[in-house]
Amino acid sequence: MENMKRRTFLKTSLVGSVAAIFANSLQARISTPREMEGPFYPIRPQKEQDADLTQVAGKTGLAQGEIIEVFGQVLDQDLNPVEDVTIDLWQANSFGRYHHPHDTNEAPLDENFQAWAILQSGKEGRYKFKTIIPGAYPISTSRQRTPHIHFKISKKGYESLLTQMYFPNQVLNAQDNLFKRKSAEQQAMMTAKTTTKSNKYQYNIILDKL
Ligand SMILES: [Fe+2]
Repeated sequence: MENMKRRTFLKTSLVGSVAAIFANSLQARISTPREMEGPFYPIRPQKEQDADLTQVAGKTGLAQGEIIEVFGQVLDQDLNPVEDVTIDLWQANSFGRYHHPHDTNEAPLDENFQAWAILQSGKEGRYKFKTIIPGAYPISTSRQRTPHIHFKISKKGYESLLTQMYFPNQVLNAQDNLFKRKSAEQQAMMTAKTTTKSNKYQYNIILDKL
């Protein structure tokens, strides 16, 4: 009888500890996956780096393309908001051309597109910016990069994060070499979410503490 009790106890505590390990692994969320910087991080000085990429100071026109807002929160792995994070972002214009002297793509430049911004996350780690859906661009005669926005994210006490944000429902995602080699979970974390408003996308970023 004593033996039975002991065995049941051992069995129950084993089930209990497996459950605890499982619960812990669910709580420990993965941080936003990393991606390469790519060759087009801006190298020309640019005074204007505000959160509206659809207008350039001193010009009257609007950037060409589909205007969208991207918003989200920067969080740590326990999902606590992280304020005062530097969010450095850059992207191709709607034609798939970077405002970068080394971009040899023959697609047109857009003088009304700001192309680069440096923002700070504010209260509750929130940030937002206005931009256009970047165009896809060729990387060889047969391959294209799917639309994406590059991010460099940094804050003292956290691992710096270099990544690329993707858009949902882009046919080219399935053919993009960098996107394709991520797991389904990583792809989900790197892809902005649609919202009830068709021009607003949500993209939360999860940082690792040092
Ligand atoms: Fe790129």
